[in-house]
Amino acid sequence: MISDHTNAIAIAGLNKTYETGFHALDNINLEIKRGEIFALLGPNGAGKTTLINAVCGIVRPTSGTITVAGYDIITQYRQARSTLGLVPQELTTDAFESVWNTVTFSRGLFGKPRSPAYVEDVLKRMSLWDKKDEQIRRLSGGMKRRVMIAKALSHEPEILFLDEPSAGVDVELRKSMWAQVRSLSETGVTIILTTHYIEEAQEMANRVGVINKGKLILTEDKNTLLRKMGKRHMVFALRDPVSVIPMELSAYPLTLEDDGSKLVLAYNDQDDNDISEVLDHLKSSGIRPRDIYSRQSSLEDIFIQLVEA
Ligand SMILES: Nc1ncnc2c1ncn2[C@@H]1O[C@H](COP(=O)(O)OP(=O)(O)O)[C@@H](O)[C@H]1O
Ligand SMILES: [Mg+2]
Repeated sequence: MISDHTNAIAIAGLNKTYETGFHALDNINLEIKRGEIFALLGPNGAGKTTLINAVCGIVRPTSGTITVAGYDIITQYRQARSTLGLVPQELTTDAFESVWNTVTFSRGLFGKPRSPAYVEDVLKRMSLWDKKDEQIRRLSGGMKRRVMIAKALSHEPEILFLDEPSAGVDVELRKSMWAQVRSLSETGVTIILTTHYIEEAQEMANRVGVINKGKLILTEDKNTLLRKMGKRHMVFALRDPVSVIPMELSAYPLTLEDDGSKLVLAYNDQDDNDISEVLDHLKSSGIRPRDIYSRQSSLEDIFIQLVEA
């Protein structure tokens, strides 16, 4: 039975308590649409890997339901599993095997007919074609990571999970990997990645879910999240640094930054802070700005607010 298939993933009332009694997932409800790039963002130990592994059938839920491409992951395990590819957090490949064989064997494990043309296409997309006959142990860390992605794609999944794809990958390679993942998304593959790098979520995702201590504390379109929760700041860069904020400015939400060389006013678009009034006070206090500019808070600031709340 193929049910509603507009959702790549539908998770309802998911709980996971490990054998140790540790409650790793607490009533997770989440739907991910086909074609999305969804980033699950959270600090270490938040439950990201547990959640991904539950969806991929590696961790057995304590309660709740999960469907993947319309298939129940418990009662229709084989169908569900064949629609998804997982790139685990830890690299798991046979170091002495070649790139070509690794991807080809993995496809066979899923019972897919041989298709050298498809394997070639995947290796080319992952920029591994010239390494196809190389043993995996001879590859760099970034290349190994791409072999893992190619392996996860070997059976033509509709949904790809990347668990901490940037862990241990240097900045340069990270950027090229993001570009490759984005181009995968353009071919229609739904992408779900976990990360504790905010930059990665900000760069890649259409939608972001924030998980902390096993609870999904929000899911939001990335741009909406930035707009709704982002604070704006007016920065007064000073000619001469100050050590304290003058008394007559104490009514304003001001802070000092960079050893007193910047005075920063926090405000929302809804606030009716009168910048010229602040400027007047600065002038009468003998403080002269060298430059004035506004600044929008990043996903990072928002994330810190949420997780520390
Ligand atoms: N097999 C397990 N048995 C007991 N506790 C576990 C097990 N796996 C993970 N945990 C605990 O569950 C919590 C979430 O782990 P995990 O899902 O790996 O977090 P994340 O991927 O967000 O870093 C952690 O506190 C971790 O110690
Ligand atoms: Mg993890």
